[in-house]
Amino acid sequence: MLKLGLDSFRIAIMQSSEIRQKFLEFFKSIGHVVVPSSSLIPDNDPSVLLTTAGMQQFKPYFQGLKSPEEDFGSRKLASIQKSFRTSDINEVGDNTHHTFFEMLGNFAIGDYFKKEAIVYAWDFVTKELGLSEDRLFVTVFAGSEGVPEDKEAYQIWQKTVPGVEIRKLGRTDNFWGPPGDSGPCGPSSEIYYKTHSGEVEIWNLVFTEYDSDKEGQLSPLSQKNIDTGLGMERLVSILQGKESAYETDLFLPIITAIEELVEVGGKENKAIKSVKIMSDHIRGAVFLSADGVIPSNVGRGYVLRRLIRRAIMHGQLMSINGRFLATLAEPVIDSYSGSYPELKTNKQTVITMLEDEEAKFDQTLKNGLKEFAKFEQKGSISSEEAFRLFQSFGFPVELTTDLAKQKKLSANTDEFEKYFLEHQEKSRGGEKEYKGGLAEVSERTTRMHTATHLLHQALRTVLGDGVAQKGSNITNDRLRFDFSYSNKLTQEQLQQVQDLVNEKINKGLEVTREEMSLEEAKKSGAIGLFEQKYGDKVSVYTIGDFSKEFCGGPHVTNTKEIGLFKIQKEEAVASGIRRIKATVT
Ligand code: SER
Repeated sequence: MLKLGLDSFRIAIMQSSEIRQKFLEFFKSIGHVVVPSSSLIPDNDPSVLLTTAGMQQFKPYFQGLKSPEEDFGSRKLASIQKSFRTSDINEVGDNTHHTFFEMLGNFAIGDYFKKEAIVYAWDFVTKELGLSEDRLFVTVFAGSEGVPEDKEAYQIWQKTVPGVEIRKLGRTDNFWGPPGDSGPCGPSSEIYYKTHSGEVEIWNLVFTEYDSDKEGQLSPLSQKNIDTGLGMERLVSILQGKESAYETDLFLPIITAIEELVEVGGKENKAIKSVKIMSDHIRGAVFLSADGVIPSNVGRGYVLRRLIRRAIMHGQLMSINGRFLATLAEPVIDSYSGSYPELKTNKQTVITMLEDEEAKFDQTLKNGLKEFAKFEQKGSISSEEAFRLFQSFGFPVELTTDLAKQKKLSANTDEFEKYFLEHQEKSRGGEKEYKGGLAEVSERTTRMHTATHLLHQALRTVLGDGVAQKGSNITNDRLRFDFSYSNKLTQEQLQQVQDLVNEKINKGLEVTREEMSLEEAKKSGAIGLFEQKYGDKVSVYTIGDFSKEFCGGPHVTNTKEIGLFKIQKEEAVASGIRRIKATVT
């Protein structure tokens, strides 16, 4: 068994499946309705790329737009939510960061508020889970930027647990939300656990009483809500007496499978780090794929592709021979499908996708690593060389820096971005030339360009969010759009897509362009190469409330200018990739 070199001071007492069950049973017993986890692909919420928290599926209920009683039969809910945070991808490999994770949560929508939330949480951790009170302390919001200190929560804690240590913290720690660029948020109170090596935040109780607009202006919600989140990985680590989730039953089946492929025991830290990265990323990839994400070069698809490529890369670094992703996906599917049956239902899709992606990347990687060996002799790698690896071999820049670190090369990739932008400029220039050397892109191609954005979104609306752009090309006569989708579109689907595009055209939606930082663009839910570093500012084109894409333009200012949109042809280009040709008149 992999020894991560950390002390285990307690014996495993509770399996993860038992913890999930205990949590849901507890909240059920005090009048909550258990709601299944929603998909990692957010439903109808363009403000986020992937589901990042338990409250996300309840956003419209928190905002008073929908009735929880009508839809769930209760205002008190509990769930175990599949969640994914792309911001942590580069941190994975230590003991605490994960991409995919599970979040246990109880929610009250216009029902109970601070007092009950605090009492329930304390009872659960101390009585149900048996965590020692001596090791627990709590925090409350100290107040900032026009939001008052949370004296009420402070008093409730004092009354509920006399003598408990209460710390007051500011906005970064004790104010949560909104998820994405706008929505419900509020001050929070957290429960921490003291381990041998530090303090771990285990449960976040958010008192959701504000709605934030896109400018960050807060207004009171029509009702007060409770949103809590208890991180499964941390909780299981504590209950199983481990310093990280990798040593718990959440990860042991996959780590055992990795160890069957490669001798890890006794190896240095870098191999252990690779094992952690591989197991995190494969788990994440399996869950994303089971929820319908398809690898691509944009948006969610790109997140999935990055996970897969990084996992393969780390496998190579540990000299695992042959293809291994499918083998390692099995233990994830086996150990999690009891709680998440969709893993079993979609097993074949997941496995086939992993095999395809691995085959695709295999050759590129081999060539790239050969190229990389040249830098090893030289002892260093420059931004330009990193860019060449990206351009010719599909090495994301962080793979190059990872690899450089592992091989102890000095890597200066500060100017990677500059090369990336230059390359973009050049290919844009090339595009214009291709269009017949016109200095100005014609009015007709501009109309088709905007129609392409509408088509992209219409395909996603009709066929699902797994659809991602694979390529596009516009001439004076037609537009061509390639996208990921595994089946031939039916006549009915094509009709629906065409009708939806024309409906949006006829609505006369405004097309607006905004410059924003990549961070803001990501938050706004725009489709694009999220994980790449662009320059400081990116352009995002928004069409009414229908579409949002990173793009260089140009576009019409109102969709009415497009005219009538007509699909001419739908065909296959490659396995899993379809092509639509269409025109505007
Ligand atoms: N939404 C809060 C969080 O993600 C509590 O569930 O921490």
